[in-house]
Amino acid sequence: SSNQMWGGRFAAGPDAIMEAINASIGFDQRMAAQDIAGSRAHAAMLAATGVITDSDAQAIREGLLTVLSEIQNGEFQFSTALEDIHMNVEARLKEVIGEPAGRLHTGRSRNDQVATDFKLWVRDQFDAAESGLLALIRALLAQAEAGADWVMPGFTHLQTAQPVTWGHHMMAYVEMFGRDLSRVRDARARMNESPLGAAALAGTSFPIDRQMTAEALGFDRPAANSLDAVSDRDFALEFLSTASICAVHLSRFAEELVIWSSAQFRFVTLSDRFSTGSSIMPQKKNPDAAELIRAKVGRIYGANTALMMVMKGLPLAYSKDMQEDKEQVFDAADNWMLALAAMEGMVKDMTANRESLAAAAGSGFSTATDLADWLVRVLGLPFRDAHHVTGSLVAMAESKGCDLPDLTLEDMQSVHADITDNVYSVLTVENSVNSRQSYGGTAPDQVRAQVKRWKALV
Ligand code: ARG
Repeated sequence: SSNQMWGGRFAAGPDAIMEAINASIGFDQRMAAQDIAGSRAHAAMLAATGVITDSDAQAIREGLLTVLSEIQNGEFQFSTALEDIHMNVEARLKEVIGEPAGRLHTGRSRNDQVATDFKLWVRDQFDAAESGLLALIRALLAQAEAGADWVMPGFTHLQTAQPVTWGHHMMAYVEMFGRDLSRVRDARARMNESPLGAAALAGTSFPIDRQMTAEALGFDRPAANSLDAVSDRDFALEFLSTASICAVHLSRFAEELVIWSSAQFRFVTLSDRFSTGSSIMPQKKNPDAAELIRAKVGRIYGANTALMMVMKGLPLAYSKDMQEDKEQVFDAADNWMLALAAMEGMVKDMTANRESLAAAAGSGFSTATDLADWLVRVLGLPFRDAHHVTGSLVAMAESKGCDLPDLTLEDMQSVHADITDNVYSVLTVENSVNSRQSYGGTAPDQVRAQVKRWKALV
């Protein structure tokens, strides 16, 4: 038999394969609450503008709440023949309230309906991402504040570069997640225009009030072009690209935690609550949460790529291709929120091993730049010459199997006769980090100033 929603011109129902490729109810039922909120706003507006009667609108609005509670209580029978959440809800509404249900779809199409539902869903996820990022940033600030002056090695090429502080390293991620937060807020503000009332693509001849439905659904204004309103999936693409960039940040941090928690580094100890054991090696404590966070960028960026490819080349206005937007966004959103929460939990619970950090901070000739700077500042050497002299001293220390501060003054003077005792003051890692007082540098005072600035923001 033909479809009860659109089957007027059809003599036969769809092939089973047609139904299987066409139906979205298996996933878009996640938008039930948004669909019902949109329909309730639409019905109230239709009554306010005199398109339907108050009593019909009343029946529709109450009936929709009944349907919503059936869905929330798991009593609702979803039907693949009814394709999607929109038609499933409307068909059930008809069973619950009868004839007035047929008036709900006046001046509306599934095209503006699905765009509205999906926007409402994505908007909630932007809000969830904002909360998740704020919580993660607060956890990082607590780590940074506690360890503002704990020294550790800073790396380039994963080779010892210059000493930094634990707080400084944590604050680097605060900056990254802070930009993610700002992207979330920007995108949310940009997407908050209502598609409802764009109808199929051209608008409607009914005297609808799009301002009224926009306000009822918390949108800032109605979208200004009906063709664009039903075709726009920028908001989903911005969600996915914002999620992708954030997932890259999460992945880089996760990678550091994996390295830092190894027996070779011992920079951090992850809590038991965020670690797992091995079924064969009794000594193991594995950073699985960090590894999974590191991996999530794969599927999140995959979703971003997938939807970009779905949207490219689609002529205006709606095409069924766009139904493929939801699974990508749902999966990316679920995994983004999970990754944020897992990272927040790990950061809150982890212990920085201050002694290991300090021991590592001094190895690998990490204060060589401080020595070269001293040669410039005190002896007046050109930096290139100072670099060369320091390089020779590093080679000497390496051949003696010691660190720079362990070289004797005679050793030093054999490379450059004017070096004095005073040089040793700059060879400690504490002196090194304390001297990096330039704005945004690693000196503990600078780190504390940034912690303070961020605390006022989040
Ligand atoms: N299930 C559809 C989707 O997710 C709803 C819109 C259908 N519109 C249409 N003209 N067939 O995109």
